[in-house]
Amino acid sequence: MHILVTGGLGYIGSHTVVALIEKGYTITIVDNLSNSSLSVLDRIARITGTKPAFYQLDLQDAAGLDDIFSIAPVDAVIHFAGLKAVGESIQRPLTYYRVNIDSTLTLLEAMRAHDVHKLVFSSSATVYGSAPIPYSEESLVGQGITNPYGQTKYMIEQILRDVAQSDPDAEFSLLRYFNPVGAHPSGLIGEDPKGTPNNLMPFVAQVASGQREKLSIFGDSYPTPDGTCIRDYIHVMDLAEGHVAALEHIRPGATAYNLGSGIGTSVLELVHAFIDATGKDVAYEIAPPRAGDLPEFYANPDLAASELGWSTTRSVEDMCRDTWAWQTNSAKTRL
Ligand code: NAD
Ligand code: UFG
Repeated sequence: MHILVTGGLGYIGSHTVVALIEKGYTITIVDNLSNSSLSVLDRIARITGTKPAFYQLDLQDAAGLDDIFSIAPVDAVIHFAGLKAVGESIQRPLTYYRVNIDSTLTLLEAMRAHDVHKLVFSSSATVYGSAPIPYSEESLVGQGITNPYGQTKYMIEQILRDVAQSDPDAEFSLLRYFNPVGAHPSGLIGEDPKGTPNNLMPFVAQVASGQREKLSIFGDSYPTPDGTCIRDYIHVMDLAEGHVAALEHIRPGATAYNLGSGIGTSVLELVHAFIDATGKDVAYEIAPPRAGDLPEFYANPDLAASELGWSTTRSVEDMCRDTWAWQTNSAKTRL
């Protein structure tokens, strides 16, 4: 089976490509390299022994995409490509709406033109906004989303539902990720944020490695047991395997699945788990809360377990250890 992976050289895409190749799928990657590097392709080849076909292309380029669909005998698409920085989306809403929505529309039109009807889409727990926890797929979505990035995920989900309704052959999976962290255990691929990391785990890793002096913990007076925010962290290889399961159990219409562990971990718990797993010190201070942060959210992961036969198998300790392997190995493995 031939899978077109958009954004396949990015963080989650590259790990998913590894999981797909290991399951015997043939891969074509389309990525404009706006937030990734060509060296990831070589690292995927080093891990798997297979170098996927790669096209450097912006998904908004309809003619270029049409050419790729004409060359590659695509059976299904996994759509990761898009912009994802929450804070930047507040500063540059037009860019986020243009890139994320337009890319998806262009992709859907190319799929329609080439008779491809299976799609797995990278959505986010952010679509639940202010719904009560734990979030289940039946929870209300679209209320209390605090930024344009989250709105694009909500809007694209709606677009996919409308397209699925119009196309009796459509099989779409909408995967709502919780908090992806960690790296491939080889230390060859991982998350490589440009500039100051926005997310907790890469920041912790950079403090542990001495690249940054200390972590600011955003708030310790939330209504949680230790006062810091609680999230559902998911190892990126569990997430990658979730995509394989979604593809293997894809069904008619548009179906949303939570990909999370169902376990909440506080910021302080994560920092201490990292110290325990790596033996490295992580200096931190308590800073004011960050605008838009919810005190606590985690998944009800039951639907993915029952329909996809998938659940997480890796612990917070695994996430910390593999993040550290990537942090320490990546400098010397850069090609
Ligand atoms: P990433 O930035 O590492 O990967 C995205 C990839 O898409 C990059 O390689 C980038 O170069 C490429 N890309 C961006 N715009 C493109 C375009 N117009 N045309 C072609 N390629 C383009 O991000 P990631 O963390 O791997 O996230 C993948 C997807 O998962 C995104 O859609 C993101 O919104 C979603 N998601 C991520 C998280 C998270 O915490 N990382 C959480 C929920 C959802
Ligand atoms: N945090 C800190 N210090 C930091 C960074 C983060 O204390 O330097 C805290 C945050 O305040 C939050 C927790 O760590 O309480 C997790 O923050 P992240 O930025 O790592 O993750 P978020 O839950 O804010 O958001 C992530 C993705 C979003 C996605 C969401 C749900 O960044 O794109 O998960 O999937 F929508």
